[in-house]
Amino acid sequence: MLQPRQLGYLALDVADLESSVRFYQDVVHLDVTEEREGCAYLTGGIQHHWLVLRQSTTPGVNRVAFEMENERDLEAMEKRLKAAGVEVERAGSGTLGRERVDQYIRFRDPDGIMIELFTDMVTMPMAPTYAHRVHMSKLLHTVLLEKDASKSVPFYTDLLGFQISDWVERTAAFMRCGDKYHHSIGVFGTGGTRTQVDHMCILVPTLDDLMRARANVMALNVPFRNDLLKHAPSGSIAIYFRDEANNLTVEYCWEHGQILDEAHRPRVLPAMPETLDMWRLVGPGFGKGTAEISLSQGVQPLSQPAASRINGGAHPMGEAQALSALGVRQGDGARVETGK
Ligand SMILES: [Fe+2]
Repeated sequence: MLQPRQLGYLALDVADLESSVRFYQDVVHLDVTEEREGCAYLTGGIQHHWLVLRQSTTPGVNRVAFEMENERDLEAMEKRLKAAGVEVERAGSGTLGRERVDQYIRFRDPDGIMIELFTDMVTMPMAPTYAHRVHMSKLLHTVLLEKDASKSVPFYTDLLGFQISDWVERTAAFMRCGDKYHHSIGVFGTGGTRTQVDHMCILVPTLDDLMRARANVMALNVPFRNDLLKHAPSGSIAIYFRDEANNLTVEYCWEHGQILDEAHRPRVLPAMPETLDMWRLVGPGFGKGTAEISLSQGVQPLSQPAASRINGGAHPMGEAQALSALGVRQGDGARVETGK
């Protein structure tokens, strides 16, 4: 199947390179592999980078990059995109020395977010030193906030070959690729209001690693968006904390499932607090779908009961409510350079 192998890295333009590097070293436990020309490359694994930070006067996410299995697949994908009328930029010579990936193509998704597909990132000779604090398995996924999920999701499935693992209502889709993890990318519709990158997620191998990362977040007084929770879609246990300077949320998760059954049928999950966090089934209103939790405001009654939202029509939930149920707050989301 022609599809990306896995999420490769995010490129984030930042207003203050030095303090952003410090944040991703001290809070996210990434290791700097290379610094040059106003860029810092950071990783949590053997790959040269999971994150590129670049000094810029227009901060925000520059691109989201996925790895392809090999050059043949990259070429096939380039052909498919061009045939669909997508404008594609191809890497020139000297890419490996400059970008630390061998070949790439770049193009924009329906909202203008730049996507890169690459082959053969440089592999480091040794694992990062920061891994002695928190072991990390991989850069797992990113979630994009896009204006219209009904336009963006088919771009990722029909053109890029992602497979839908689960929907939340019809406003958010979790999609997997070659590594089979429940999602390498999530696209959440915003009802036309905004295009942003909500978060990046790192998978850790043990509960101890998750809890050690959490203890460090608390010790450094970094704000959580969500403390420990268990997601219904992937089954993972996670924490979310904030890179406030760049308005990006970072997630650490453990036990994010893979979908190995080729016959898997995507579920349509309800936009309820319990979908975000299966552990919120206790307490006033929970389990009846009549309350939702907010870190700042505690338990709040919902404006209408869940039953009517689930059964009450073809599109019972608005995007704003769906985003809220998925933990995305109004002001969250890193700016993106959409080229528009
Ligand atoms: Fe996530």
